Amino acid sequence: MIRLGVNLDHIATLRQARLETYPDPVQAAIFAELGGADNITCHLREDRRHIQDRDVKLLQETINIPLNFEMACTAEMLDLATQLKPSAVTLVPEKREELTTEGGLNVISMKESLQKAINQLKENKILVSLFVEASKPVMDVCKELGADAVEIHTGDFCQKLLSAHTSKSQFELVEEFQTVSKHASELGMQVHFGHGLNYRNAYWMQLIPEAEEANIGHAIVARAVFVGLSQAVKEMKDLLNNADHKPNWI
Ligand code: PXP
Repeated sequence: MIRLGVNLDHIATLRQARLETYPDPVQAAIFAELGGADNITCHLREDRRHIQDRDVKLLQETINIPLNFEMACTAEMLDLATQLKPSAVTLVPEKREELTTEGGLNVISMKESLQKAINQLKENKILVSLFVEASKPVMDVCKELGADAVEIHTGDFCQKLLSAHTSKSQFELVEEFQTVSKHASELGMQVHFGHGLNYRNAYWMQLIPEAEEANIGHAIVARAVFVGLSQAVKEMKDLLNNADHKPNWI
């Protein structure tokens, strides 16, 4: 089964657009849980553009499923994570001017800071996942750094899938993920996926036997406007796991 991590950042985006108290990501987590979410993900950005400190604290106190805390590798966030002790931390790159996380971590240039962060988080018994591009050498570095999991960036894949019009070209795109995921799994790391997954592409993850978790936000929150959050989560979980949706070579 592929676990579904529901990213609630965009519930908070809607709230912050009017600097209101609603909709509340903490309340949203209850509906996500009822829909079958396996964990709740949120990203506390340095500029606090959506999720606020209060959200992370309350989510950690109230949800009955694991909290995956997404954060940049900074001293401020590390302090917060060690106080909070979420089940998992996913380290992501962060740029102030980006609309959303644009690429994976540069694990080579950030090796030293990542190593320190991973050691600190693991001392606090927090599972550490690194958000990275699909590349075998990158997986080797993640292993060397002691990561428990990798979250493979699906942004490019989702874009390319849109312009891949034949089964052959679509399956070729998945092959890259299959090879890299197998490698990461053989190295002993959990394999997660995330970014840009939606109701038209998430079922492709079914072709990756090593896929353990998908973290999905924007598409679920957008669909929730029409069908409600629990239903949107339920539908996404079905796309990730129901064999009826598994892509076939046509
Ligand atoms: N995984 C990571 C590491 C992310 O940074 C994001 C975006 O915040 C997501 C998953 C979710 O992406 P999306 O909102 O496109 O589903």
